[in-house]
This record gives sequence, structure tokens and C-alpha cells, in this order.
Amino acid sequence: MSTEPDLNQALFERAQKVIPGGVNSPVRAFRAVGGTPRFITRGDGAYIFDANGRRYIDYIGSWGPMILGHGHPAVLEAVQKAAVEGFSFGAPTEREVELAEAILALVPSMEQVRLVSSGTEATMSAIRLARGATGRSKFIKFEGCYHGHTDALLVKAGSGLATFGNPTSAGVPPEVAQHTIVLEYNNLTQLEEAFALHGKALACVMIEPIAGNMNFVRASVPFIKRLRELCTEYGALFVFDEVMTGFRVALGGAQAHYARLIPGFKPDMSVFGKVIGGGMPLAAFGASRAIMSHLAPLGSVYQAGTLSGNPVATACGLATLREIAKPGFFEALSTKTRTLTDGLKTVARENGVPFSTDSEGGMFGFFLMDQLPQNYTTVMTTDKERFNRFFHGMLDRGVYLAPALYEAGFVSAAHSSADLDATLDAARQALR
Ligand SMILES: Cc1ncc(COP(=O)(O)O)c(C=O)c1O
Repeated sequence: MSTEPDLNQALFERAQKVIPGGVNSPVRAFRAVGGTPRFITRGDGAYIFDANGRRYIDYIGSWGPMILGHGHPAVLEAVQKAAVEGFSFGAPTEREVELAEAILALVPSMEQVRLVSSGTEATMSAIRLARGATGRSKFIKFEGCYHGHTDALLVKAGSGLATFGNPTSAGVPPEVAQHTIVLEYNNLTQLEEAFALHGKALACVMIEPIAGNMNFVRASVPFIKRLRELCTEYGALFVFDEVMTGFRVALGGAQAHYARLIPGFKPDMSVFGKVIGGGMPLAAFGASRAIMSHLAPLGSVYQAGTLSGNPVATACGLATLREIAKPGFFEALSTKTRTLTDGLKTVARENGVPFSTDSEGGMFGFFLMDQLPQNYTTVMTTDKERFNRFFHGMLDRGVYLAPALYEAGFVSAAHSSADLDATLDAARQALR
């Protein structure tokens, strides 16, 4: 046993005195897996280092944004230059225009985009815009999809399709949840029934097309196709929440993936975050010019932000997008991710551990069960104790996976073959 003081534990104790639970976002507290959260002092490429000076291969990447790894030279240079020019002006800058142009060039379903500072702000604004543009109040979301912590989105299914959702958080009044309809992911029958009941009152349907907040679960192609048809038929807007999948599963996001499988497919509105900020607070929502024209100052849907389109954040986002748009970037990233997931599957098989895995681009998930789940209820049947043992087994061996079984994982361009091999070696020992 080491006699060195545990500086993570010391920091955690200090943090808990001044920050609720010691963290500024709940999952960081390791409550799901137990143990002491690691306090990170710095990142370098595929690695993060904790307060004890311990190095970890990072498969969280700040929950998605760090697609290039930590401290990519081109991004660092852009951020340092922008910081010298000024942190924030509260007035328009050319870089915002450049970033909007870069995003629109990669996502052809949108004609205009508005920049905000967090995914929560972007989804909240998208719902308001959908309501303002359609003149309707209700919307559908799916169990297991997380769209940020806006009141109307912190809602779980009610007792039946004819009833509305119930808040999942204290502090959300039932009246706020009464317009939110929550359905099971990938359940076509429920979808048909819900549209038959509420279709004409729906402002929008919001979905994580590849859900990363119940580990990694894809919406089936028939599900997305039918959703598209129903939204068009009933005049509801189809909103792709690509905060996690955007510029992460493919250069054009999950919508590019589904457009390859469903000819002509596009959502009506899209929400982005994470990778577009490259690790800085930046997010966006966009749609056709006609829909976006409902936003202030052109239209009557109000939306604003002191730090929206922040000059340092936009520099970081632009530099990141430029790197990931280089030819071959996503092919190489996808190959790395698949090498990791295939390797994990082999190791699990060797040890007789039930295991299934899926990935797209630089995002992956794995389940300690034989078949990939299709919805949240099945995801949550995972053997939690076994997952927690695996998580800690990996952490002890210097591999930092998401500290909860319902979170996706992320590979960056900085992960080397040696990092992937080291991860598989750790898994071999942890699963033994
Ligand atoms: C799909 C999705 N939408 C929205 C959000 C909220 O983004 P933020 O944490 O930046 O508010 C998240 C965050 O993880 C997300 O994964």
C-alpha cells in the first residue's frame, strides 16, 4: 500500500465544503461507481493527469469535445492568438461569421445557425423556436435521451400515452412538464399511437439520433424514417439533438449517417455542442432560413446571450473543425474506435464475460450483456456491480472510462495504437 497522501481525496474533501457534492456537474462525483473522483491537473494528447500525478488514457474527452485530444497545437495557437485579441466584446465579430459558415458547409440541412454557450441553452432555444414557429406547445422526447437540464426536458413518461410526463427533478413544476410527451426509444407502435393522439398539437419531436446518454443506442433506420414521415404529415418539426453526435460520429453528424441510409433524409432543426467548441463553452442550433427568421431580432421568438459567439470559444471551435475536416480524419478515427471495441469484445469473450458493443466515428458504447439494447429499460438491466468492478479495474490500471454504465465513450485522434493496446491489456487483467 502506498503511504503517499491521496491528493484527489484531499481535494474532494475540500471541494465538498464549498461546492455541492464537491462537483459542478453531478456525474463527476463518481456516485454511480463509488470511490474518489480524480481531480485533473492537465491533459496532453490522449492522456489526463490527476492530482497525484497519475496518468490515465482518457476515453471521456470532456464528454465528447476533445476529438483532437488535449492541447492540439493548431487549436492552442488559435486560442492563444484570440485570447490576446480580446476575451469578449458583446458585439459581432468576423470569427462568428466564419464559424457559422464552416458549420453550414458541413451540415447542409441548415441554412442558418445561431451560436450559444451550452448544449442546454441550445436545446432550450430550439424548443422555444419550434413552438414559436409552429404556434403549438407540445413536444415529444424519448426515454434515455438527455437534452440538457431545461425544465421542460427533465421529464419522464407519465402513466400512459394520453397523459403527459412527470418531472424527473425537484423544482420542475408539473405544469411545465404537461406539454412534454415521453416515449420509448425505437418503439414504433408507441410512436404511431402518440401521433394519432397528439400529432396536430406537436411543435416538435426531439431525439438523440444515436443516444449517448444511455450508453450508446442507435435509433433504428425504420424508426427515424417513420418519425420523419409523421413529422411531415402532422406539421411537427423534427429536431436532431446532435450535441454529442455532431462532428463526432461523422463530419456531417448523425444526420449524414442517416441520410446515407434513408435517401433524401434531413431533420428540420439541429442542435450542436461539444465538438464545435473544441472544449470551450460553445453550442449552436440551426434550421432553414424560414424557421430561423422567427428568432429575434427578425422575429418574435426571443433568444440572447452575453457570451454567445465568444471570440475565444469560436477560435477554438473553428480550429477544431478545420482539423477534423481534413481528408481521412474520420476514417482514421473510426478505425481506431473499432479496433478498441473489437479488441474489448475479444478480451471479454476470452474471459467468458457477456459483452456487446457498438460505435460510430469517434463515439462508442459497450454493454456487459450479450445483445445490444434498443431502449433505456434494457440498458438499465446491465449488471451494475460488474460494470463498477470493471470501471475501477480499468481506472486502477490507468484507463479512464465514463464513471457510469449509461454513458458513451469517446476516442480522439491523439489515441495511438500503443494506447489502444495498453487499454486492451488493462481490460484483460480487469476482466480476469
Ligand atoms: C445530447 C445532448 N444534448 C444536450 C446536452 C447538454 O449540453 P450541455 O452539457 O453543454 O448543457 C448534452 C450534454 O451532455 C447532450 O449529451
